[in-house]
Amino acid sequence: MSNKYFENNVVYQIYPRSFKDSNGDGFGDLQGIINKLDYLKDLGVGILWLSPIYKSPDFDNGYDISDYYQIDSKYGTMEDLKLLIQEGKKRNIRIVMDLVVNHTSTEHEWFLKALKGEKEYQDFYYFRKGLNKKPPNNWQGCFTGSAWKYKEEVDLWYLHLFAEEQADLNWHNPEVMKEVKKILNYYLEMGVYGFRCDVINYIYKNSLKDGKKSLYLTGKEHYQNTQGMHDILKELRRDVFDKYDCLVVGETGMITLPTGQAFLDKELDMFFQFEVSSLDFGILPVFHKKIKPQKLINTLIKWQNGITYNTLFFENHDGHRCLNKYVDGLNYHYHGATMLATILMTLKGTPFIYQGQEIGMMDLGVLKEEEINDVAAKYVEKIIKKIPLLNIKKIRRKLVDNMNRDHSRTPMQWTSDTNAGFSKGKPWFKVNPNYLNINVEKEENDNSSVLAFYKQIIQFRKENTCLSLGDIKFDTSHKNIFKYFRTYNDKALEIIINVSSKNIKYKHATKCLLSNYKLLNENILQPYEILIKTI
Ligand code: GLC
Repeated sequence: MSNKYFENNVVYQIYPRSFKDSNGDGFGDLQGIINKLDYLKDLGVGILWLSPIYKSPDFDNGYDISDYYQIDSKYGTMEDLKLLIQEGKKRNIRIVMDLVVNHTSTEHEWFLKALKGEKEYQDFYYFRKGLNKKPPNNWQGCFTGSAWKYKEEVDLWYLHLFAEEQADLNWHNPEVMKEVKKILNYYLEMGVYGFRCDVINYIYKNSLKDGKKSLYLTGKEHYQNTQGMHDILKELRRDVFDKYDCLVVGETGMITLPTGQAFLDKELDMFFQFEVSSLDFGILPVFHKKIKPQKLINTLIKWQNGITYNTLFFENHDGHRCLNKYVDGLNYHYHGATMLATILMTLKGTPFIYQGQEIGMMDLGVLKEEEINDVAAKYVEKIIKKIPLLNIKKIRRKLVDNMNRDHSRTPMQWTSDTNAGFSKGKPWFKVNPNYLNINVEKEENDNSSVLAFYKQIIQFRKENTCLSLGDIKFDTSHKNIFKYFRTYNDKALEIIINVSSKNIKYKHATKCLLSNYKLLNENILQPYEILIKTI
């Protein structure tokens, strides 16, 4: 066995505000998570990654931090976090925090001091003079629009790659590095197991020159995957992470295989690449298309063969539910969900489950403008309104919906009671009306449910070391069939997956260790059928 905990364990991502409310204020909280630790243990996960719980004015649901040393009161207190770590430990569950250090909230004291004219704190950010009332350069933010905002009180503009309430930190200033090391040590000393590092490959800006004009993210060549960012990660690894048994996973959009592999050289333990989750993007992320099964297979193989260690994920808090995205989840809820679960648990790497995925939670359906909570979707709506060709209500609703991150953020569906058992108060965001059919309580009492399958396959992964530590080899001879072999010492498994919603002719012996169909047909693979066999 490897001695790296994260190689043998499954991570479960919690979006705290939507997980479980313990005090009836409509927001999920730390006590709610503590109350559900036995559920998570029973599911079989060994690591929880919590989306940000720090103090925040919440313009981007916590990804705009105003105090790194305080827990936001809606989630509880620092004592609650300590209790969660302790209670987790008793159940062999470790806690990973979100580290958001590309930017802080504009309500962080550093930013407030900067606005008062304190030069020392202006240097924590990118404050610059504009040119004839125009921003200092032509960069576009990730949520669309200019990446600069003017502040009259200092007659300067500041850089924000995300919402205007999220001001980018200036990593050229050594004080920023010092502060971040302090934050990391504080939580690692407390017993936190590691960090998921938000947009980590954007943190170091090479220059603030104009960017090459581009349809999306003008300016990106000045800050994506810079050498300075690699140097920062190496320093954090050497001075902080190497002193602990911890997990450091990076969120790294827009990377190639070589850039990805570079992170694994004394920087991150693993990283999220978004090529798989962007397979539905058209010429711009706002235009979506259907994902072809073979394309999904090819892209997964590319990353499996192309780097030494992968994260495996189909969902997070920033996208659509996998049942709406990769498969026909409306018609094949169980088989689509269990097929994707099988890919997650049998490829090489560390699997990540996003809350609710284990019961097959789904998208909400297109929301009205006034129902939207997601800040990114609101930005997109604003821009589309300015483009006459797209600003036709039905088209606009669809395009905004493509980008809307609310779908994965609806309250967790625990029971068929009011508010899906998430809260006794009014939930901060609407519950998916399908909770009467899709909820934990119902699935716990049904051994042919998506939840039952998740438990089974997580357990199976634990019992078969070749799935966590073994080599992998692919057989690409059948279209739409994802077939591979995992081997470790003298044990070997063969995994056969129909990634499509069609029957595929395929001759095979019906004897297998695990399948998501009760009745197998030796001549065909049924829609989304999976088979795991010994060889
Ligand atoms: C990451 C987070 C996303 C957030 C953005 C800015 O992409 O996952 O939710 O909006 O960073 O912090």
